[in-house]
Amino acid sequence: MNSCGLRCLFILLSFPYLLQADLSSDYYSKTCPDFDQTLVQVVTDKQIAAPTTAAGTLRLFFHDCMVDGCDASILVASTSGKTSERDADINHSLPGDAFDLITRIKTALELKCPNVVSCSDILVGATRSLVKMVGGPRINVKYGRKDSLDSDMNRVEGKLARPNMTMDHIISIFGSAGLTVQEMVALVGSHTIGFSHCKEFASRIFNSNAEHSADFCPEGMNSKYAAELRKLCSNYTKDAEMSAFNDVFTPGKFDNMYYKNLQHGYGLLESDQAIAFDNRTRPFVDLYAANETAFFDAFAKAMEKFSEQRVKTELNGDVRRRCDQYNDYWG
Ligand code: HEM
Repeated sequence: MNSCGLRCLFILLSFPYLLQADLSSDYYSKTCPDFDQTLVQVVTDKQIAAPTTAAGTLRLFFHDCMVDGCDASILVASTSGKTSERDADINHSLPGDAFDLITRIKTALELKCPNVVSCSDILVGATRSLVKMVGGPRINVKYGRKDSLDSDMNRVEGKLARPNMTMDHIISIFGSAGLTVQEMVALVGSHTIGFSHCKEFASRIFNSNAEHSADFCPEGMNSKYAAELRKLCSNYTKDAEMSAFNDVFTPGKFDNMYYKNLQHGYGLLESDQAIAFDNRTRPFVDLYAANETAFFDAFAKAMEKFSEQRVKTELNGDVRRRCDQYNDYWG
């Protein structure tokens, strides 16, 4: 049993429906009729002012939902007593613009309908709008999630894949989050936008024995691409901001170019390139490279499913007034 003990058991036995999230696409139609319009307006303004917001927010959504479901636990700031998820090392590179976007939407919505819209719904809704805005598919999303009452750095390790993990390990991490291999390949197609810091792929392009060899090319990587990346990242140990586009040909557009890139050795991260070689994942890479509609359908369905799993309810969550802090019911 969780930490709320007998009180929760009593509530649960009395009101079993509380455990089931009551998600619906028009969840806020009565309580916050301007929800959609306000969210889209703030998202549009932000994306125009800072075009990297779309990729940053999509990654923020992913890192939130992989750790105990989409519950905005990633947004909570650490306190002197507890280090929260966002301070886990894998989350350090999540961009400030994405957090800023959620704060702006929350502020706008609190003015219109205070204490109604959860931060987790805002993150899901913003991600969905941004994917569409940069050329991706329409995702059907439902709302009604509650925000987590906890955010703990120690719950992150092992729940997010790293580029140098084996495909077995990566598949098992996605499997633990309730996702199939096909859904995983579709979701990783998110790397059709955004960028990665050089340190994330440096071990591929700077082989310690062949660092100065112009011909050195990691297995499966296009040799000209490897040479360009080496140039781009030559200073990365001194300048940690150095980075490369995930999709070198259409970096700002959500399309199926990511999969075509993999087929020709233009995968940036080791894990990207690996999904084009593994027998379990390659058929889906080939399918999505050949057919963008198949990719968009699979991506939209996987996002919908992913965003609805392990959702918090009245029993184990609430609507945070500030996305970066728990509500203070005693203050
Ligand atoms: C095998 C699984 C995955 C691994 C190992 C992985 C790893 C990474 C790494 C290392 C970066 C670069 C971060 C940086 O340097 O700032 C990145 C970027 C990104 N990832 Fe993934 N990722 C995976 C799957 C996913 C999935 C499933 C999504 C979305 C649902 C996603 C969305 C993104 C986006 C949009 C970016 C670009 C972020 C930006 O431009 O700010 N990734 N990923």
